[in-house]
Amino acid sequence: MTSNTFPPPTSARHDTDSGTDSSGAADRDEAEEFLRRFHAEQPDQPVPLSRRLREVRAAIDTKGTYRHTRDELAFGARVAWRNSRRCIGRLYWNSLRVVDCRDATTPEEIHQHLREHLRQATNGGRVRPMISVFAPDAPGKPAPRVWNDQLIRYAGHRLEDGTVLGDAAYVDFTDLVRRFGWRDPEGPFDILPWLIDAPDDKPQLFDVPRELVLEVEIAHPHCPGIADLGLRWHAVPAISNMSLRVGGMDYPLAPFNGWYMGTEIGARNLVDEGRYNLLRDVAACFDMDTSEESTLWRDRALIELNVAVLHSFRAAGVRITDHHTESRRFLTHLAKEERQGRTVPTDWSWIVPPVSGGITPVFHRYYDDADQRPNFYPNDPAHYDDSFHHGCPHRQ
Ligand code: ARG
Repeated sequence: MTSNTFPPPTSARHDTDSGTDSSGAADRDEAEEFLRRFHAEQPDQPVPLSRRLREVRAAIDTKGTYRHTRDELAFGARVAWRNSRRCIGRLYWNSLRVVDCRDATTPEEIHQHLREHLRQATNGGRVRPMISVFAPDAPGKPAPRVWNDQLIRYAGHRLEDGTVLGDAAYVDFTDLVRRFGWRDPEGPFDILPWLIDAPDDKPQLFDVPRELVLEVEIAHPHCPGIADLGLRWHAVPAISNMSLRVGGMDYPLAPFNGWYMGTEIGARNLVDEGRYNLLRDVAACFDMDTSEESTLWRDRALIELNVAVLHSFRAAGVRITDHHTESRRFLTHLAKEERQGRTVPTDWSWIVPPVSGGITPVFHRYYDDADQRPNFYPNDPAHYDDSFHHGCPHRQ
């Protein structure tokens, strides 16, 4: 496990005083600040700022909360992406598709929206950045959640000899869904079911429809041995355990996705010791000399695996980006934002790619790292199950 654990050890929910409090009430100051920002950045609103402020203040005073208009919600979600300090892919923040799912209450309705999210986001391989926003926390009415940290993840099966088949970071979650009755197929890439937790009901298990999960089989352009490893990865990374915080309100179920950067799969998911841990198998495919560290077989295997990931996604017509292109785009984003008079909150340790950091331009600079809102914050895992260990070491 690296130092880049996710979620971070202390949830932001506890070290700030904004967002909804434990009673579910909206934060008044944060609501006002958000509405002012919305009207400043998008001045042509049908309802003037002063009137909207009066409405929202009155609603918070009487009901403890207020309802975002669709335009406010869309703007809030886009700016939350723009403010995500760990995301290198923010150049396209303003084109995020925002789907309003606030009226879905039953597990079945939520399930239906999650399926629709996967379908639209996958888009036959032309992956689109998208967020589906469900009901917020409100006084006397807790919000729905899903317990999965991403909409698509692979199970980890602990075998009798102590090794793990599948994704080792998901052994505990796999045990958990098994306790809820999941009958796992026990292969290396079994898609975990959704655990949907709607208020007024106990959490319910739903299988993710196979036909909605686009996957890519990993092959190397020159080394046939790589295809023989039988590796694959899913096309859409859709984070489902972070709260969208907009205007003093928390939306704990707001799954969002972009498209993959190759290193996420080729340098982390398939490589981390706490994940698929495949570097030695890759080196063996190339007959690398692994007798000494100084042959740099690890580095060479890592690069070949990343070549294979990018090659396979492109050959399959599934949108993916490489870390050199994405680093340059990020600097374009910084320059654009600076021209708008905005700073770009950035966490260097997450932005610098996990391979070849120093030969990407994002390495060689300092960043402003102050937290800004709207934003995304990790949901409190203790909310649903104390016994459920939640330290999944994925990055970006
Ligand atoms: N690193 C995570 C994964 O491999 C995904 C995080 C979001 N990534 C993205 N490209 N939007 O599954």
